[in-house]
Amino acid sequence: MGKEFDITPVDVPKVETQYRRIVTQIPHPDSVKTLESLHQSEPISMRGQPPVVWERAEDCQVYDKHGNMWLDWSSGVLVTNAGHGMPEVRQAIIDQVNSGLLHNYVFPSEERAELAAFLIDVAPEGMDKVFLLTTGSESTENAFKLARTYGISKGGKKKIGFVGFERGFHGRTLGAQQAGGIPGQKDWIGNEDPAIVQVPFPDGYWTENIDFDHFCTTIEEKGVKPDEVCGVMLETYQGVGPDFAPVGYVRALAEWCKKHDVLLIFDEVQAGFGRTGKFWGFEHYGVVPDLLCFGKGVSSSLPLSGVIGRKEVMDQYPAGSMTSTHTGNPVCCAAALASLKKIVNEDLTGNAARLEPIVMDALTAIQKKYPDVIGHVTCKGLVGGMQTVKAGEKTPDPDLAYDIILNCFHKGLLFFAPVGAWGQTVKISPPLTITQDALEDGLRVLATVVDEVLAAR
Ligand SMILES: Cc1ncc(COP(=O)(O)O)c(C=O)c1O
Repeated sequence: MGKEFDITPVDVPKVETQYRRIVTQIPHPDSVKTLESLHQSEPISMRGQPPVVWERAEDCQVYDKHGNMWLDWSSGVLVTNAGHGMPEVRQAIIDQVNSGLLHNYVFPSEERAELAAFLIDVAPEGMDKVFLLTTGSESTENAFKLARTYGISKGGKKKIGFVGFERGFHGRTLGAQQAGGIPGQKDWIGNEDPAIVQVPFPDGYWTENIDFDHFCTTIEEKGVKPDEVCGVMLETYQGVGPDFAPVGYVRALAEWCKKHDVLLIFDEVQAGFGRTGKFWGFEHYGVVPDLLCFGKGVSSSLPLSGVIGRKEVMDQYPAGSMTSTHTGNPVCCAAALASLKKIVNEDLTGNAARLEPIVMDALTAIQKKYPDVIGHVTCKGLVGGMQTVKAGEKTPDPDLAYDIILNCFHKGLLFFAPVGAWGQTVKISPPLTITQDALEDGLRVLATVVDEVLAAR
């Protein structure tokens, strides 16, 4: 996080496997013009990713124009659950474009009706309304607003307390960033809302106390009375890990929410649509939220997000007062429907669950070999992570994560830049269409690169 990748072409050894091909300097000298042009015209904040100019991406591979091919373990930041540019999704987009309907605002369309019905069908019973939006941040902002409105309706203007989690991430807009808890990301706010607080996330590693009592004592210490809380929002797993909370903790939290008439909100923007080996990530906890936010993997391509919830909560506003210009854009809806059908029909969720032990075993083997610098490894379905620390300490080591990712990039294995509150995580998130063979190919690269990077230190 925060560290740029150099765009000067370097010589790297040639790679030629079924899944990866590196045959030029990286980045290719001809792509530097494009990289420099982006540096000129975009903010510095946009520079953080390994410098490959994507020409196309298909299934689990990303290609540049110059004959190089990467095995993609980014899924374009956990979007392409059904694979990059899959024929079904492309065809659905083409058909929709050819139908002549590219935009219809909030006016009704068959496409929006079909997608909304599909989403309600796959949502847990009782979650019977969906509001479609465009980005994940919009969906968490919307959930926040729904919770506040709900709280005020139940307990007056005092019931506006909102609880998020330390190191949580819900997007970069005002409410989403205040609900989140990544150090440094809120400095720009200046006058944070005192009714929004964070509690430690019980990941068992950075936060060792995983008792639900810790939740209760923390909000008490922060002066928040349970009956004055309107909502609690957590990522189904914290993206920094990926780290899940203990099942017992989440069940106790759900009980607590019920007791105090607080909305339980799962941010499924990363976790939904099969990623964790269950269709919805929160199924791992055996609880049903009041609201769920989704985005990313819903379409495997075009921007779409939304909130699903109970009728009572979703129907709080009168006609015309909870809308969005691009709500359920018909082309995005067509892409989402095609992607969702592929996930369901081909049981990509099951594929993620089946492949989980392969990733977990490989990560555990790396950690066993280097226990002093690989602090924490986790995997659920097809989202895994390796958190790097300074030798023998529990201090994040973002430079090590960066070096691992850079060297994998040079060998044709593509990760997005390190993530986590301190940029300490190498995160594994291939499309859910990946085969065991391709996964194992990538895991061998990762193990070799860790050996090489640590040997060179
Ligand atoms: C858990 C979670 N919530 C919300 C968001 C924000 O989504 P977007 O970038 O589409 O606004 C993200 C994005 O990474 C996310 O991981």
